[in-house]
Amino acid sequence: MEIRKIRKAVIPVAGFGTRFLPATKSMPKEMLPIIDRPIIHYAVEEAVRSGITEIIFITGRGKRALEDYFDHSFELEHRLEKAGKKEILKQIKDISDMAEIVYIRQKEALGLGHAVLRAKDLVGDEPFAVLLPDDLINGEKPCIKQLMEVYGKTGKSVLAAEETSPNKVSAYGIIDPATDEHTFKINGVIEKPSKEEAPSNLYIVGRYIFDPKIFEYLEETKPGKGGEIQVTDAIQKLAKNEGVMGYKFEGEHHDAGDKLGFLKATVSYGLKHKKLSGEFKNYLKEVILDKPALQAGMTEKENK
Ligand code: UTP
Repeated sequence: MEIRKIRKAVIPVAGFGTRFLPATKSMPKEMLPIIDRPIIHYAVEEAVRSGITEIIFITGRGKRALEDYFDHSFELEHRLEKAGKKEILKQIKDISDMAEIVYIRQKEALGLGHAVLRAKDLVGDEPFAVLLPDDLINGEKPCIKQLMEVYGKTGKSVLAAEETSPNKVSAYGIIDPATDEHTFKINGVIEKPSKEEAPSNLYIVGRYIFDPKIFEYLEETKPGKGGEIQVTDAIQKLAKNEGVMGYKFEGEHHDAGDKLGFLKATVSYGLKHKKLSGEFKNYLKEVILDKPALQAGMTEKENK
């Protein structure tokens, strides 16, 4: 068994973000901020903290803001320098120095599997990580690092797994686990099954380590559910022929690509924020305990 170092991460960002329309009509979903950092910042930071040195973004139309975010901004940096704003200047410079970033276009959003396949030539013949930035995971040890450790022990592709409720299985890629251990072998995966079809309540969260063989299976994959080239179809073949592991990761997970998930993530990150947490906690207490009128303040239309 050959275990190779994982140096590259693929971050697909070419989706339309329809769940966040109209905001995403003119701005990439990945640029929506959780406090003062866009969602994409957290994913890149997680990869870099895990030892990744090269990031491959799969982008699409309307994602220029993302490229600008990770680029140098000479005019802004010059202004901040002149104004003596050293702390924020350092933060801004650090963003562009985070990692080596490469961009590839997915000309048509034909699905996550199709997006990952765009990275084939840049990844080459080595294992690599995939991070879906909507899935925000906050924990002591970065989630992708946890998966890298499982790869280090097993030499197999690894998926991040989390429990969901039986009523929600039809929204996710669901895992058929061979055992109920923390690290387990996967018998197979099924995309958006009905409650009756689902082999478990474990779903795939957007963190993966892939053996480069995944590209061969993606190339063979025909459009599946929703007319998209699904990554789960290729994982199914990878699991059968090469073996795939699942890992119940440690950390708090929010789906920031979903409106309610985004709100929860904002509250959670706010409560943990070094400078804001005290005042924010007081505000939340005030809203919940002291001002029922404020809770009821939104009109039904605004709540939709
Ligand atoms: P989602 O399923 O969240 O789709 O994609 P989406 O278009 O981003 O958002 P909604 O569901 O319409 O609101 C999961 C990840 O895969 C990427 C997305 O950018 C996101 O990071 N993706 C999806 C692509 O890069 N290309 C695709 O063709 C589809």
